[in-house]
This record gives sequence, structure tokens and C-alpha cells, in this order.
Amino acid sequence: MMDKARSVGEETGVGERVAFIQADCAVPKVYGEGEFDIVFGAWLLNYASDREGLVQMFRNVAVNLKEGGKFVSITVPPSENPIDSLNAEATARPEPEGSGYLMYRHIRDVEDGIFFGVHGKTPVGKLYSECYHLRKEVYEEAAREAGLKGTLEWGVTDVPESFLREDAPGGATLRELETYRSIPAYGVLVITK
Ligand SMILES: C[S@@+](CC[C@H](N)C(=O)[O-])C[C@H]1O[C@@H](n2cnc3c(N)ncnc32)[C@H](O)[C@@H]1O
Repeated sequence: MMDKARSVGEETGVGERVAFIQADCAVPKVYGEGEFDIVFGAWLLNYASDREGLVQMFRNVAVNLKEGGKFVSITVPPSENPIDSLNAEATARPEPEGSGYLMYRHIRDVEDGIFFGVHGKTPVGKLYSECYHLRKEVYEEAAREAGLKGTLEWGVTDVPESFLREDAPGGATLRELETYRSIPAYGVLVITK
């Protein structure tokens, strides 16, 4: 008798506890009962084109978090002047490695920061997308306006010492990895409701 193919999720029972919903994260909506301990958003805030767009994303987070819950977000590095951040990035990590194969290009200034393109020739294919890097204070003010009033902390790229060796695992060169110490590639924004 042949075993029926099972996914990892089925084997561990995760499939019964996880639900996927497709929705616009810039439209505030309570999911289920709301009251989540944590909301995690990787590379989402960088799609907000301005302060009001950010407020809407943060509102969506706020209405779904319980009091004292945390929003953890991976996004662009915190910067008072996003064009400086983008230029530092391009200088520190030029082609062909870029930042994990990604290269950033300024397209135009917007009121709260810059609109930029990301292109990459990765081992699994080419990619291109466009998004926004807004000023640090705009993220902070928008979060407050949306009701995320607790502690607010920014972290940045952190490369573990164990990766700063020629024979370290992963595809990045030592030269690329060392640049992240002075020029971060991303920010980690953690805000408590
Ligand atoms: C760079 S990808 C990151 C995907 C994933 N979080 C990760 O870290 O691998 C950003 C994704 O956010 C999606 N996105 C942008 N704005 C959104 C919105 N308002 N609502 C839902 N998804 C959005 C984009 O379509 C894209 O798939």
C-alpha cells in the first residue's frame, strides 16, 4: 500500500492552526476577534507612498493587536534623509553582489522621502520592484497617529560573528557581510500598542 503524500504542515498539525487570508493591508479590518499578541510585517511598510498610507497600514495593525501587543516589522533602514541611505547602500555594496544581489535606484523624490526601484539578478532569476523610503520620523508619527502608543524601537541589520568568516554558510561574500556593520540594509521597527 502506498503512503498518501503529506505536507510538513499536516504532519505537525500546523495546518489546523494557521489560516491564510488574502487582503489589502492598507485597509484597516479586524481579523477574527483581533486581540493578537504579535503582528509581523516583512517588507510591507515600504509600499506606503506617504504618511497617510502609513497611517492606514499602522491602523490595520493597531485594530488587530491587543493592548501591550507588539508590531514587528522589517523595512527600510531608519534615516532622516532616505536619499543618503540609498546612496550609501549603492556605494557600500556595488554590483554584482549588491545587497544579497539587490541594487537600489532612485526614481524620484516624494514629499516624505523617495520612490526607488530594486532590481536584482539572483541565482533563481531576475526581479524588479518599486517602493518608498520615507523619513524615519514619518514612520514614527504615523504609528502614533494610528494608535500604536507604546515603546517604539528601531534595530538595523545585524550579522552574527559566526557569519563573518570566509567559510561561513550562505551565499554572501565576506566583503559584502562586513559592509552591513556600518551601512545597514534594513531596519527592524518594533512598536508596542
Ligand atoms: C518584498 S515582498 C515581501 C514578501 C514577504 N513578506 C517576505 O518577506 O518574503 C512585499 C509584498 O507585499 C505586498 N504588498 C504590498 N502592498 C500591500 C498591501 N497594501 N496589502 C497586501 N500586500 C501588499 C506585495 O505585493 C509583495 O508581495
